[in-house]
Amino acid sequence: METKIVRLEEGNRSEESLREAGEILKQGGLVAFPTETVYGLGGDALNPDSSRKIYAAKGRPSDNPLIVHIYRTEDLYQVAREVPTQALKLAEAFWPGPLTMILPKSDLVPKETTGGLDTVAVRLPSHPAARKMIEYAGGFVAAPSANLSGRPSPTTAKYVIEDMNGRIEMILDGGEVGIGLESTIVDLTVDPPQVLRPGFITGEMLSEVLGKVENDATLFTANAGQAPRAPGMKYRHYAPKGDLAIVQGDAEAVIAFVNEKVREAKARGEKCGIIAASDTAPRYEGDVVKTIGDRRDEEVIARHLYGILREFDDENVDRIYSESFGEEAGGHGLGQAIMNRLLKAAGHQVIQVRNH
Ligand code: TXA
Ligand code: MG
Repeated sequence: METKIVRLEEGNRSEESLREAGEILKQGGLVAFPTETVYGLGGDALNPDSSRKIYAAKGRPSDNPLIVHIYRTEDLYQVAREVPTQALKLAEAFWPGPLTMILPKSDLVPKETTGGLDTVAVRLPSHPAARKMIEYAGGFVAAPSANLSGRPSPTTAKYVIEDMNGRIEMILDGGEVGIGLESTIVDLTVDPPQVLRPGFITGEMLSEVLGKVENDATLFTANAGQAPRAPGMKYRHYAPKGDLAIVQGDAEAVIAFVNEKVREAKARGEKCGIIAASDTAPRYEGDVVKTIGDRRDEEVIARHLYGILREFDDENVDRIYSESFGEEAGGHGLGQAIMNRLLKAAGHQVIQVRNH
């Protein structure tokens, strides 16, 4: 299939493209589009065939439910069987924005969209083009991240094109996304509400509105003895091709350890990649050293993480060592989301080093 790629710009040309995208979606086609978190791969959420096509285009297991994107809060009543006061309070506080709520689903939403579940994930994105497109599409767009299954979520149109060109009808290029990590998912069908995926809207921010909020037990541990409650979180989503380990400890000890490992790997004829903060990056001897940003600037680190993981795939590194990020206090609080994604990408391989 020929994929139409359109650069979104200010003014009428974008308006036309968004209308065209809406038309494609209404007719059962697929359109990749920018949101404030990551790029989405959209299809009509109320059309079971569209959902099937989304799974096929991504190569994604069909038991992994899709998020239904809406463009106005009142449409929550269309897709959810019950809308608790808590949901309205969250909508008031954080919508439009990077928050997804799990609620009991209405009959309007086909099981194909929810991966067979009786619950539905709903999100009202803040990206203006995304919202317009959803409106033109009839109001309900199912959209997972626009990557092939197993690759990091795309943060620019370039990465969407890499994964989706030839597989879908249209790609809307809105430049680089703002946040770079997927939306926070909170499950309101349990008491207390549970965070199933950490994101820009933090647990503390949710608590201010909801009171007590718990974390899904699997967010930061490999063997919590149970499966993640968001089916998608059980897959090793963000895994780069090279074997990734997170190295934690005092900065000097981390640098010494990693440089030693790089030398050993070189002797075996292997290529190493390193993910480092700007202050320590110059001290590494790896073949490919990626500077993710200032360690204290969590927003920058979040925005760069997925792109860096993708670049390593292109550079064919055998092994990747990453410094640990997201533990510094005082930031926006994105630290948990960064750590959660990094741990998943590393398959929870964490190495603790000490000074000798
Ligand atoms: O920021 C985002 O949320 C992006 C943009 C495009 O909006 N979308 C996104 O979708 O990240 P996706 O499909 O890549 O991730 C959705 C996650 C999966 O882990 C899925 O298992 C979970 O949400 N999920 C969806 N519906 C659910 C439900 N009813 N119950 C529990 N988890 C659900
Ligand atoms: Mg995804």
